[in-house]
Amino acid sequence: MAAPTPARHSAPHDDSKDQAARLWWQDAVFYQIYVRSFADADGDGLGDMAGIASRLPYLAGLGIDALWLTPFYPSPQADHGYDVADYRDVDPRFGTLADFDAMLARAHELGIRVIIDVVPNHSSDEHPWFQAALAAGPGSPERARYVFRDGRGENGEEPPNNWQSVFGGPAWTRVSDGQWYLHIFDRKQPDFDWENPEIGDEFESILRFWLDRGVDGFRIDVAHGMFKAPGLPDVELTQEGGGIEEALSQHDRPYWDQPGVHDVYRRWHKVLASYPGDRMAVAEAWVEGAEAMARYVRSDELQQAFNFHWLESEWSAEEFRRVVEETFAAVEPVGATPTWVLSNHDVDRHVTRFGEGAVGLARGRAASAMMLALPGSAYIYAGEELGLPQVEVPEEHRQDPTWFRGGGVGRDGCRVPLPWSGDAPPFGFGPEGSKPWLPQPGEWAELSVEEQQGVEGSTLELYRTMLRIRRDLLPELGTAVEFLTAPSGLVALRRGRLVCVVNCGDADADVSTLVDPEALLVATGEDKQVREGTLPPDTAAWYDAA
Ligand code: NOJ
Repeated sequence: MAAPTPARHSAPHDDSKDQAARLWWQDAVFYQIYVRSFADADGDGLGDMAGIASRLPYLAGLGIDALWLTPFYPSPQADHGYDVADYRDVDPRFGTLADFDAMLARAHELGIRVIIDVVPNHSSDEHPWFQAALAAGPGSPERARYVFRDGRGENGEEPPNNWQSVFGGPAWTRVSDGQWYLHIFDRKQPDFDWENPEIGDEFESILRFWLDRGVDGFRIDVAHGMFKAPGLPDVELTQEGGGIEEALSQHDRPYWDQPGVHDVYRRWHKVLASYPGDRMAVAEAWVEGAEAMARYVRSDELQQAFNFHWLESEWSAEEFRRVVEETFAAVEPVGATPTWVLSNHDVDRHVTRFGEGAVGLARGRAASAMMLALPGSAYIYAGEELGLPQVEVPEEHRQDPTWFRGGGVGRDGCRVPLPWSGDAPPFGFGPEGSKPWLPQPGEWAELSVEEQQGVEGSTLELYRTMLRIRRDLLPELGTAVEFLTAPSGLVALRRGRLVCVVNCGDADADVSTLVDPEALLVATGEDKQVREGTLPPDTAAWYDAA
């Protein structure tokens, strides 16, 4: 196979030799906290604000720059908080507004910024607006906040169109007076009607509520949803129960990526800009191709959009290079910041995606090394720094609505509560004797923070080292990436004085023609061989090419 040719890419708001001119989020490492799975202070089996606050010193020591918290608002928890019943409060299960404020203040003291999830496509069916819509009946202004329609068929007994829920089954549910309401997700997540100006006003007010409290920004849930094509046309049904990511990225659907969303983001841009401190927002937008993605990050819209390429890629040098090239192709034309993500709360953990057991772990660590070498923002999913694998959650413990609606394989396996310490569950996730909301595998004793802390070569120490080097070298790294000509099976890139080489092949590789082995900064596998110029399979290394 021909060796890849060198190519140069340049990232965001570029050519910033002048690191000081860059905004905090342009190089930030974000750490995603799935709130119910992180740390449980009160022992009810669910993580909470006080739990997060208690672990902030750990996060500061890890070396991340910012947190992204998944929804913690009052919610019936039909989709673990992505079904919001009150956008301006904290669910009592997770604490109080005062607990949130205390956690935020402590994070800021430690130099950690905090962004929170905003869920604008749908609310919970237990939100007062939806309850009012049910009570007020057809044709009322209350109903006009959601997408209610009469059904088809002689007596309206058929849904208004053939749309399917992302979680499986029909996207419509009938109410007692005969009308139907739309829910692109679970039936307990009715979609707002964003054509109604009241919705836009309400969300501006919600953003301001949290910005006033001091949050540094937002992750926007289903940012490519919200607007629906006029007339709600039928679709060609091709969906065959793939995962949520497949359903979220069915690009031809008339409920995704409609032009109206961009007016909303222009408005939100102004809202964010009206606050001090470079507040930001990142879109969860599963859209097709570079151009569509770039529209979300135009200079008067959002600061970032997640780039899900890596979630869909195999363990392969060509694919890893393609991920980077396609990402740059998307952001370069609009001068936006690239983002990188290998794992999140919706997909199998990347350690498991890339292989079984020790091989998967080795590959996962190597992929993380490549991600953290790149310019732009990296999003780490809690537990990734411990090398946690996907868990096979026993059927009787399953909780994810996608499991029950048949729309996927279920996402519980990447949401198992974190192991902090001790040799038996709850592994310090909650107080002794408490029962985490999902069972933790016994073998996680070996993966706990306590077990890995200070242990050379552990995944936790590897992440710490990489984050420290990244931070130390940042002023000299710049935003340009150049691929080096590398032997088949390898991907090698240079960013300023940092060179990262990953061996995705199945044989030892001599890298001494590419780099000076003695300039090794960190390797994701055994050091010794790497120092001698040999990069074993499933291993990555960083070198100082100053
Ligand atoms: C995307 C979120 O990441 C996912 O967890 C959630 O189920 C859906 N949006 C619906 O809000």
